[in-house]
Amino acid sequence: MDPLLLLFSLSAATCAYLLWFYLLARNLTGPKVWPVFGSLPYLFLNRKRMHDWIASNLCSTGGAATYQTCTIALPFLARRQGFYTVTCHPKNIEHVLRTRFDNYPKGPTWQTAFHDLLGQGIFNSDGDTWLIQRKTAALEFTTRTLRQAMARWVNRTIRTRLWVILDKAARDHTPVDLQDLLLRLTFDNICGLTFGKDPETLSPEMPENPFAIAFDTATEATLQRLIYPGFLWRLKKVLMIGSEDRLKKSLQIVENYMNEAIDARKEKPSDDLLSRFLKKRDMDGNLFPISVLQRIALNFVLAGRDTSSVALSWFFWLVMNHARVEEKILRELKTVLTESRGGEPKRWMEEPLTFDEAEKLTYLKAALAETLRLYPSVPEDFKYVITDDVLPDGTFVPAGSTVTYSIYSVGRMKAIWGEDCMEFRPERWLTAGGDRFEPPKDGYKFVAFNAGPRTCLGKDLAYLQMKSVASAVLLRYRLSTVPGHRVEQKMSLTLFMKNGLRVYLHPRTLA
Ligand code: HEM
Repeated sequence: MDPLLLLFSLSAATCAYLLWFYLLARNLTGPKVWPVFGSLPYLFLNRKRMHDWIASNLCSTGGAATYQTCTIALPFLARRQGFYTVTCHPKNIEHVLRTRFDNYPKGPTWQTAFHDLLGQGIFNSDGDTWLIQRKTAALEFTTRTLRQAMARWVNRTIRTRLWVILDKAARDHTPVDLQDLLLRLTFDNICGLTFGKDPETLSPEMPENPFAIAFDTATEATLQRLIYPGFLWRLKKVLMIGSEDRLKKSLQIVENYMNEAIDARKEKPSDDLLSRFLKKRDMDGNLFPISVLQRIALNFVLAGRDTSSVALSWFFWLVMNHARVEEKILRELKTVLTESRGGEPKRWMEEPLTFDEAEKLTYLKAALAETLRLYPSVPEDFKYVITDDVLPDGTFVPAGSTVTYSIYSVGRMKAIWGEDCMEFRPERWLTAGGDRFEPPKDGYKFVAFNAGPRTCLGKDLAYLQMKSVASAVLLRYRLSTVPGHRVEQKMSLTLFMKNGLRVYLHPRTLA
């Protein structure tokens, strides 16, 4: 080609692109965007403080609490896969999660990435496939026997292992990573509740459990699929290299473990979720095949494993730094336990809470909810847009794009939670008399447990578990962070503490 013609064509194409980019950027309301890479450079610069960055972007929109950005500034992609509407406006969240629920599914990117691990289980399906499982599971989650089963698993772990580990650490004056202990504890509990088998990953020897390791590896490899462009992980899968190779191998271990668990429950049913699903029938009246049961169980394990442990980690850290709240939690515990066990402090610590005692702990529940307001276990969630739509605040969302609702930011907006929104103040969850727990009138101001038809099924179980563990620790010990330990957020789909929570335990004398 004539070099002059080539130069002219390139210049014309560049001018056309820049004009197109200018028109695109003019309509975007989020952080500055760059040609081709959109907002990716800023995303990269803020990768270590992603949630605070999103919250500050939303704050700077004033009361709008919604912005739009693009991560691939290329024609055709910029208005679809690369286009993000980020919001924490409660009315928009309600629209996405409830009013136009059918227009905002999890979507193809999410589902394809999670398919190998979760199949079409409740956590990873949409439409009728999701609805059938939801209805079946919802019936089970409301039963008293499931709550009793949870109380039994939690209390057993506290009595036989958590206290043993903490007592020894307090005696030897050695620090523990509380987050690690809690992650092990909730993993054991959710396995017990789901398939009636406690892998005992929390125990004084801190054993490496092959199922737990394989499950972690598979989850991590799956999350990597969401970070990189789809073609990359598909190629790695075909070539069987890197994370895809690890995923395949770990899925094999997970499957073998699940098969053993299913065989055991078939032989000796119990009150766990798997035993309940073994008796259920699908729409055609057939029993669920083994492969489907495996996926159903795995979805519950994923849904219920890390969420309550990270919430508890943030709770303990906040309580350590708010003596007044700690004092009030202890006062409430003393009142409730004196009523049920008498005035002798030794008896308050002999056994973990009973179900009825846990129910009475209103202030503790408020402190847990307040923790989740500021540090929601799932900080950001994503929905795919099926058809063009307009959100209640007037924002147009194109088909094929993504709506991100920032659960983390909702709790940090003055317009939503008031001038003191950054303060840890459990009292905001109580009635004027302070004797009853009162969630906000607008349910979409607090979406740590999601909301609408896909509300978390394990919310009540999670509160029960968190109350039991919180009381078991706080009644026996005062906690202090190891000097120099830095509490930081890990950037992941779950709000882990990046460096764990390293604490010393000081035996408490109650009077
Ligand atoms: C503090 C603890 C917990 C928090 C903050 C939490 C939060 C959430 C959130 C945000 C979702 C929506 C996820 C999404 O669709 O993208 C969800 C769904 C779910 N959660 Fe929880 N969860 C907690 C504990 C649990 C526990 C202990 C269980 C089980 C025993 C559980 C079972 C489920 C299930 C089955 C779903 C899927 C519901 C559906 O898609 O229809 N959760 N949870």
